[in-house]
Amino acid sequence: MRPLLELTGATVRFGVDAALNNVSFRLFPGEVHSLMGENGAGKSTLIKAITGVLPLNEGELRLDGELVTFATPYEAQRAGISTVYQEVELLPNLSVAENIGLGREQRRGGVISAKRMQAHAREILAELGLDIDPASTLGTHSLAVQQLVSIARALSVDVKVLVLDEPTSSLDLDEVAELFRIIRELKSRGVAILFVSHFLDQVYEVCDRLTVLRDGEFVGSTSRTSCCGSTWSRRCSAARPPSTALATASRPPSRRPPWSCTRAGSRAATASGTRTSTWARARCWASRDCWARGARRSPVP
Ligand SMILES: Nc1ncnc2c1ncn2[C@@H]1O[C@H](COP(=O)(O)OP(=O)(O)OP(=O)(O)O)[C@@H](O)[C@H]1O
Ligand SMILES: [Mg+2]
Repeated sequence: MRPLLELTGATVRFGVDAALNNVSFRLFPGEVHSLMGENGAGKSTLIKAITGVLPLNEGELRLDGELVTFATPYEAQRAGISTVYQEVELLPNLSVAENIGLGREQRRGGVISAKRMQAHAREILAELGLDIDPASTLGTHSLAVQQLVSIARALSVDVKVLVLDEPTSSLDLDEVAELFRIIRELKSRGVAILFVSHFLDQVYEVCDRLTVLRDGEFVGSTSRTSCCGSTWSRRCSAARPPSTALATASRPPSRRPPWSCTRAGSRAATASGTRTSTWARARCWASRDCWARGARRSPVP
């Protein structure tokens, strides 16, 4: 299958420091892809590079096979890439409908038509199965509902790629379940979803594939099943690099992750023996500490 979005050899620098260094990444239609890594790994920078917030210093971006460059987030949005950030970036004093249609107001005879905007918003909210009155003032709703309105806004254009940067950090369990219901609905429509979250159980629950970054560099991409299934465990206990499960091609040989179950995260994983434990291994893999100690003590065979 052809990737919907493909980033190749992407480098983004702030002065002399590279926040993203020669990173390649592919997103397929109808997949939920989780971007993982410690603080400062380059997740937000990657998101900004594909949504027109930051320019690429090197590398290229393709959407649907076409080479694209976005000078602004608006250009990215027009091409079908919408982003919802952790902080709700809407206007609480406006109505739900006005927020959904902000910047794309429906007009009648040159005059903004509240009626049309409400009808449009009602349609989008109904598509997402959300029972929210479009005429109500946004600020009267909970943060969770405002977050869902942000998503409805992102979908009010013809969206191909939906980027969610830490969307669940202010949501309770029921609200997260509602968000995941919407994510699955979008996935069934063929929308590709790029999801950043620090909550590993949530990542496990919703994602199909994951990519790990560390210090601005690509570490690996794998499917959730090969990461969390028994294959992963066997590889881990055999202390071998997951050469078949992970796309090692883009990984610099000198910086291959140590693949050993002797790290603290993996020991905790083995002790608890739960599904979360597998993620402890993922966390171990993604952690700088694991990398640094492993590189010194257990060179990859
Ligand atoms: N505007 C900026 N100017 C200078 N350096 C920046 C800027 N934005 C990010 N960086 C640096 O780039 C690196 C990657 O940052 P980025 O925000 O992409 O990480 P992240 O993986 O999203 O982290 P977090 O999990 O904390 O959100 C960090 O070292 C950060 O300090
Ligand atoms: Mg970030």
